Amino acid sequence: MPEPPDRWKWFSESRFGLFIHWGPYAALGRGEQVLYREHLDQREYAEAACAWRPCSFDAERWADVARRAGVKYAVLTTRHHDGYCLWDSRHTDYTSAAQAAKRDFVKEFAEAFRAAGLRVGFYYSLGDWRIPGFWEGPGRNPEGWGIFRQYVHDQVRELLSNYGRVDVLWFDGAWPHTAEDWGAQEIIEMARGLQPEILINNRFGPSKEEPGMGEVNRSLKLGDFGTPEHEITADPNRLWESCQVSTWRLWGYTAGERWRGADVLLDTLCQSAHKGGNLLLNVGPDAEGHFPSKFVERALRIGRWLQSHGEAIYGTQGGDVTEFVTRGWQTVRDNCLYLIFRFWEGGRELRLADLMTSVCRATLLGSNQELEFAQEEGELILRGLPNQPPTDLFPVIRLECSGRPESNEWGKDRLWQGDP
Ligand code: GLC
Repeated sequence: MPEPPDRWKWFSESRFGLFIHWGPYAALGRGEQVLYREHLDQREYAEAACAWRPCSFDAERWADVARRAGVKYAVLTTRHHDGYCLWDSRHTDYTSAAQAAKRDFVKEFAEAFRAAGLRVGFYYSLGDWRIPGFWEGPGRNPEGWGIFRQYVHDQVRELLSNYGRVDVLWFDGAWPHTAEDWGAQEIIEMARGLQPEILINNRFGPSKEEPGMGEVNRSLKLGDFGTPEHEITADPNRLWESCQVSTWRLWGYTAGERWRGADVLLDTLCQSAHKGGNLLLNVGPDAEGHFPSKFVERALRIGRWLQSHGEAIYGTQGGDVTEFVTRGWQTVRDNCLYLIFRFWEGGRELRLADLMTSVCRATLLGSNQELEFAQEEGELILRGLPNQPPTDLFPVIRLECSGRPESNEWGKDRLWQGDP
């Protein structure tokens, strides 16, 4: 992957961000797409949305949880596919500012997160399910499409003009239209004019020059970073961020949904770092504006782990140096190789294949216990490991090497990563 420009270094150094899906759909408690999935009546949905009044929303509390969870940036759904806007838009009155809520949530979010030292991102759905021109598209309704498209451009301009520095612009909902239909190039130029350092994702829809509609929503060509969703797949050509739910499936608040455990969530973070990308972990706050307590519990546990193990994640690069796939993940920073264990066997000794660089010191993070080791011909033997791990999440061993950790030929060629 080409080296990203300095202004974007913060993004890969962060490794961990928070995605927040919030809107009037939270009151129905069946995910962010309930309007479409249940074919609800548009008028009734809009009436309920206009009456939505989340009294407990407190952006500072959100920011506090985010900071303690160890995320470095957060992306809020300023508008989802239902079209309801969480800010004071001059271009529509279907907003939290003009309707019952009477608040500019985007402003409150941006200010509180910035004050907590976090970077700020805006998710914006290009598609708006209320608008016939959106469904009919430029072919069937050129005039309606033209008006709608102008509305989209105007709103993006507004979001990037009125809320101070915006670090990430996260488009979505381009389907079923192409990047040309949306005027993506124009949007990008406008965004860069208003926010020269901004990072823009790749969800403009495929460009007409791109083969097929295989990658729904995404453009191979446009966008500063890739957005694998529900999967952790490296984008070979640009920065990338895997977005993942913290429940089993849905992004918006869903009553009774099952939650993934803190270990499973941490596993997605470590796997993303191992592959050289970020994790954008989602929370769907409830109708009142609370982060669900199950999420907070998990997020804070991960945050506590990061306090003593964060050096294995932040600012690291992916690494596949030793044969480690059955145990967990590895990352590299400068001359250090970090071994992140998904589980702890409790054995006294551990053998690792393929590391060619000499190890100077081996330390178990958390307890900071130094480990004895021996190295012979591409095999590292660590000794004196404690029976009990120093953390109830993932133990990490830091190997400080004499140079940048390198594999032998076998390791470089790693043919098969196998079932894990
Ligand atoms: C999908 C969904 C959308 C969600 C997004 C998050 O595109 O349509 O509901 O916001 O993924 O990546």
